[in-house]
Amino acid sequence: MEVVTIVGTRPEFTKAYLVSQSLKKKKIEEYVIHTGQHYDNKLSRDIFNDVGFREPDINLNIGSGTHGWQTGKMLIGLEKILIENKPDAVIVYGDTNSALAGALTAAKLNIPVLHIEAGARSFNKEMPEEINRIIVDHLATINCCATKRNLLQLNKEGISIGAIFTGDVMLDLIENFKDRVLMPRLVFPKSFFLATIHRAENTDSNERLSEIFSWLGKIGDRVVFPIHPRTKEKLKRFKIKLPENIILISPVSYREMLWLEMHAQKIITDSGGVQKEAYWLGVPCLTFRRETEWTETLKGEWNQLITSEEHLQKGLKIKPKGKPDVALFGNGKAVQKVVAEVIKLVK
Ligand code: UD1
Repeated sequence: MEVVTIVGTRPEFTKAYLVSQSLKKKKIEEYVIHTGQHYDNKLSRDIFNDVGFREPDINLNIGSGTHGWQTGKMLIGLEKILIENKPDAVIVYGDTNSALAGALTAAKLNIPVLHIEAGARSFNKEMPEEINRIIVDHLATINCCATKRNLLQLNKEGISIGAIFTGDVMLDLIENFKDRVLMPRLVFPKSFFLATIHRAENTDSNERLSEIFSWLGKIGDRVVFPIHPRTKEKLKRFKIKLPENIILISPVSYREMLWLEMHAQKIITDSGGVQKEAYWLGVPCLTFRRETEWTETLKGEWNQLITSEEHLQKGLKIKPKGKPDVALFGNGKAVQKVVAEVIKLVK
């Protein structure tokens, strides 16, 4: 056994795809554990199938629950497998509960952890993702940073050994799939905005979620909204009435999402990944949050943080200046650099 990759949510499946392919080419044995954090076919199996990510070797089928319960169940399940398999290294991605559980289990067993997308910070500890990132970065043996600013942040926190700038594996991925995007099978208005909202801080209170949908209702264009199960459930629970311009659709695959992003007038989101994709594709983005981990995208007003309706009306009129500086996220060779680090850990 050489490397164990731990994934559990939609963005982790896509991020892991190219790294996994590259490990295979380098003849490094990889064992993939799916925690089961995302279990809906639309967020899990369909994403695997769409990008062509290999079947996981095991699915722990943990599912949803409170953060403590979900993470605790993962720790128990992962510990057993890591003890049995004794890998040389464990790879985790980003800031999810699956990444936290993976890093913590491995660190306690003295197995080196390689963290991809390290050093990102929103400086808002009310977000579960921020807590996860901080802990994972401080446990990891190798921290692969998507930007130089992320690396600097780790250095400020006293992490310099094993911290490197690799660039963003999501940028490699978009380069790989840009010419293979898929138009979703829907009837599209000529002009539309694309919206995705799923973070706890935006969906968990009736007041906030109602406010978001009332803002979306005032956009003055149709809004295509692939809805995350979490947001769908809250909409129903809070009995929020949808404005007429919103076209709710089921979650789409990665390649369909790229098509939607490329054809949208503007993108509205609270997802970290979607903000970056909008920037790399040169589509203006409005982020419904108070802060962003990806401050690089704010340059030239390609991305704007929207915290009030007034802000939104202003933001809708802004035309970004210059071109997005894609090189801030590396040169599309992040996967190669990450895998070179994995090789050092397993040899
Ligand atoms: C998780 C990540 C987030 C990432 C997102 C991508 C954490 C803390 N958060 O958020 O960083 O951006 O994935 O989508 O790990 N649900 C379903 N079906 C599913 C999965 C979830 O219905 O397949 C519903 C459940 O009601 C659940 C809620 O969504 O309670 C939230 O799921 P959770 O696993 O907590 O995280 P996400 O919000 O998806």
